[in-house]
Amino acid sequence: MTAFAEQEDVEFVLTDKHFRIIAKIIREEAGIALSPIKTTLVYSRLTKRLRALELESFQQYCDIISDPKNKEERRHLLSALTTNVTHFFREPHHFKHLADVTGPSLIDRARRGERVRLWSAACSSGQEPYSLALTLLKLAPDLADTNLKILATDIDPKILDQARNGEYEKSLLEKIPGDLRARYFSRVTGNGELRVISDEVKSLISFRTLNLVRPWPVSGPFDAVFCRNVVIYFDEKTEQKVWSQFSNVIAPNGHLYIGHSERVTGPASNVLLPDGVTIYKNSC
Ligand SMILES: C[S@@+](CC[C@H](N)C(=O)[O-])C[C@H]1O[C@@H](n2cnc3c(N)ncnc32)[C@H](O)[C@@H]1O
Repeated sequence: MTAFAEQEDVEFVLTDKHFRIIAKIIREEAGIALSPIKTTLVYSRLTKRLRALELESFQQYCDIISDPKNKEERRHLLSALTTNVTHFFREPHHFKHLADVTGPSLIDRARRGERVRLWSAACSSGQEPYSLALTLLKLAPDLADTNLKILATDIDPKILDQARNGEYEKSLLEKIPGDLRARYFSRVTGNGELRVISDEVKSLISFRTLNLVRPWPVSGPFDAVFCRNVVIYFDEKTEQKVWSQFSNVIAPNGHLYIGHSERVTGPASNVLLPDGVTIYKNSC
């Protein structure tokens, strides 16, 4: 039995059986492997849902989410259990590589009218694709006039709404170089602590819902893909499948940027070869 089934003073009882039902659904829906050490996290995040739905037990909650027709609550479950931690210019060496190595030739091509595509897969609240756009705008302020576009996707529609809004607490902008902050952010009327990113930056990005463990409605080719800090939540088989799919949609000589504790393994590692710290190049 889990800790929460043994304690008498907890508000709800979460048994091993409930945990297994929740873990199975989250694996099927999002590929996320929840191990029992996450019991406390599952308990604390889902008790909020139980209260919101005025339920009396985890059993009632499990009955609701076990019915695939209850898509809305399954979406809430996903939002509650996914980790959305992100920030502007996270893992800055990737943005340096983009500015110094990848970006200049992509911009040359885009200015010649060629199609250039970047993809921020699992973009969370938008800081990653906006950091991509800002890095490229610093190199080419005329970017909006070219055929360079950034696709930004996530499984969670709620977090994508935040990303589309492009509004952030002033304190979250500290990692953005001052010149870019001054040029592309403005105060939100009526709230001195909020800043909004400009329409010019937003216009470079298309935000879409996309589940990495379901068939992808995109075919590429992508010149650069950022897929960072998400496959770490998947089991090994799912992770390797995702890498293989990326190897099929990244253009020859295109780049894949991954999270600091991730590594490309499996068949894709014959195609996506290391080209820097947590950076890979499509060798085909
Ligand atoms: C920790 S955030 C990473 C954000 C950003 N890439 C970064 O590194 O800063 C992980 C994101 O992956 C998303 N996610 C989880 N499972 C997913 C899946 N199966 N398909 C697409 N996105 C998923 C979550 O909703 C969350 O926004």
